[in-house]
Amino acid sequence: MPDSDADRTRWPEWQALADLARATPPPSLRTLFAADPGRGTRFAAAAGDLYLDYAKHLVDDRILGALFALARRAGVEARRDAMFAGEPINVTERRSVLHVALRAAPGDTFRCGDEDVVPHVHAVLDSMAAFADRVRGDAWLGHTGRPIRNIVNIGIGGSDLGPAMAYQALRASSDRRLTCRFVSNVDGVDFVEATTGMDPAETLFIVSSKTFTTLETMTNARTARAWLLAGLGATDDAPVARHFVAVSTNIEAVTAFGIDPANTFGFWDWVGGRYSVDSAIGLSLMLAIGPDGFRQFLAGFRTIDQHFRTATLEANLPVILALLGVWYGNFLGAASHAVLPYAHELGLFPAYLQQLDMESNGKRVTLAGDEVGWDTGPVVWGQPGTNGQHAFYQLLHQGTRLVPVDFIAFGRSNHPVGEHQDLLTANVLAQGEALAFGKTAAEAAAEGMPADLVPHRTFPGDRPSSTILAPQLTPATLGQLIALYEHKVFVQGAVWGVNSFDQWGVELGKTLAARIAPELAAATDPAHDSSTNELIRRYRAMRRA
Ligand code: F6P
Repeated sequence: MPDSDADRTRWPEWQALADLARATPPPSLRTLFAADPGRGTRFAAAAGDLYLDYAKHLVDDRILGALFALARRAGVEARRDAMFAGEPINVTERRSVLHVALRAAPGDTFRCGDEDVVPHVHAVLDSMAAFADRVRGDAWLGHTGRPIRNIVNIGIGGSDLGPAMAYQALRASSDRRLTCRFVSNVDGVDFVEATTGMDPAETLFIVSSKTFTTLETMTNARTARAWLLAGLGATDDAPVARHFVAVSTNIEAVTAFGIDPANTFGFWDWVGGRYSVDSAIGLSLMLAIGPDGFRQFLAGFRTIDQHFRTATLEANLPVILALLGVWYGNFLGAASHAVLPYAHELGLFPAYLQQLDMESNGKRVTLAGDEVGWDTGPVVWGQPGTNGQHAFYQLLHQGTRLVPVDFIAFGRSNHPVGEHQDLLTANVLAQGEALAFGKTAAEAAAEGMPADLVPHRTFPGDRPSSTILAPQLTPATLGQLIALYEHKVFVQGAVWGVNSFDQWGVELGKTLAARIAPELAAATDPAHDSSTNELIRRYRAMRRA
């Protein structure tokens, strides 16, 4: 890219959007809907089982046109094609980005260098399936001959959030004889609480770590090994073979830890941690929902991959969501983005998306290493509805900050009970309507509100939301939802010109923690800044007390 092109805010396409954002009056949803009775069906798109309503956004045809022009100028299509072609687009780690190959159908081709990686992907999937069938069929027994009933995934970040989120989301599809738990935090409370009351003879640990060097995971894995051996009264390491398996790209480190390479499920450096739930990192999920369920999950991803790859930008769900985020983040001043699923099982989905989005696009330099002159990834947050309505929605409706929202809703519940699902759905639809159209002071007064209360009972409206509607939360629809957000994040990274596939920002804290850890138990004067020094001194006094 020529230097003069490096400042994206100087692009005519960027300038056009900045002009539109300054236009007065700003777009009003009441006016836009009144002017276009077809808006509710025109500003909508579908892919696979997902229906996206984006009519309640502060956009009109001109703004959308300008956003698509910006995407084209940023080379979104070429960058997408480069990813699917296996080009090393993760330039700072000199790697391809091929999580899309993890859900390839047999016979598809994805190349990393000269090699088609799909046969390797399917070889691992087959060995995961064989293992899962043995565990689920009580053919894989613990050291004392008991069947496995507890699965504990030990991992953190991308090696935890994906399977933990998906297991919770798909409990209805899971084998209830098995209980999965997820231990991630180096805080010992996590391990102790997860394993309290658990019978070691029936427990299988999956140590999941791409690098197999992560402090938290290695510490928890060592604690788990000690817990198992103590619980079984073992005099040697023999039980480890039946109670520990590993998922990693680092087979050497797995072997050094004492896990049999035969019980290790591999993946590859072209899979980023936060893009790995559909790799062997999903082993705990496969154990829970079975190999067939896991294949449906992968097929869901594939549906959206094909859509993302082939649909025009204007009809492309991930592109639309991404560009709406760009509009609010770069032109209307929004700093955060809320994801509010109306399915209780998606309780961990916002946390999962936090890593996906914030680790990918929380970047301050461009691919070329220049400081960006525009905002990049938003703060992503959320909770399932309706709970959030009774907690933080106040700010969404009447606060001073613009927070675009994604609502996620389903036609059928996995547990139909009485009228619950209709009430749940009535609430999600009501929230979108209330945010968009609000209640004017005149309307509040006409309802008989005392004059002094009218300002408090007025809702400004024009608070934007998307609604994603799917028939039911199943392995396939969950795969579609995850892929939707993966590609949304990809498109935003392309528009902002950043590398969405590294995460160097986590390194400094790790290095400093490694330095501080031995100092906490030492007696020598700490040699940090005065604030950190004093905190170390006080901690030392407390741990001695
Ligand atoms: O420190 C951040 C990170 O590297 C994430 O990107 C990753 O998902 C997580 O740590 C866990 O890493 P690993 O799978 O190598 O243990």
